[in-house]
Amino acid sequence: MPTVRFKNASIQCDAGDNLRKVLLRSKTSVYNGIARAVNCRGMGICGMCTVRLRGSASWPSRYETAILSMVPGATRLGLRLACLCTVHGDLSVEKFSGTWGTGPEMRQFGRKRTSSEVPTQQH
Ligand code: FES
Repeated sequence: MPTVRFKNASIQCDAGDNLRKVLLRSKTSVYNGIARAVNCRGMGICGMCTVRLRGSASWPSRYETAILSMVPGATRLGLRLACLCTVHGDLSVEKFSGTWGTGPEMRQFGRKRTSSEVPTQQH
């Protein structure tokens, strides 16, 4: 019987269980902030159930990879969508901050660079 560790909780589950459903059993949310109210409820559409895994889980499908490619920073951080993961064995689950769970450093994504950050052209 696999054990999933998440936010100081150890949750027993069966191999083959959906990771999002297992995490929801821990009474700590897999979502951050507004994502708690506006997520897709596990349909694999919103990209807000991102987590980083260590342990034994299903491989990401092409669909999951495509959704994660639209979440800024998710691929670089090696994140997965909990709602599309199946638990295969013991897992350690980490959740980063931010609406998409990509951490505070990704808040800068898309902001305009200040003049001191814009590289000067060399002639
Ligand atoms: S809950 Fe929306 S993608 Fe997982």
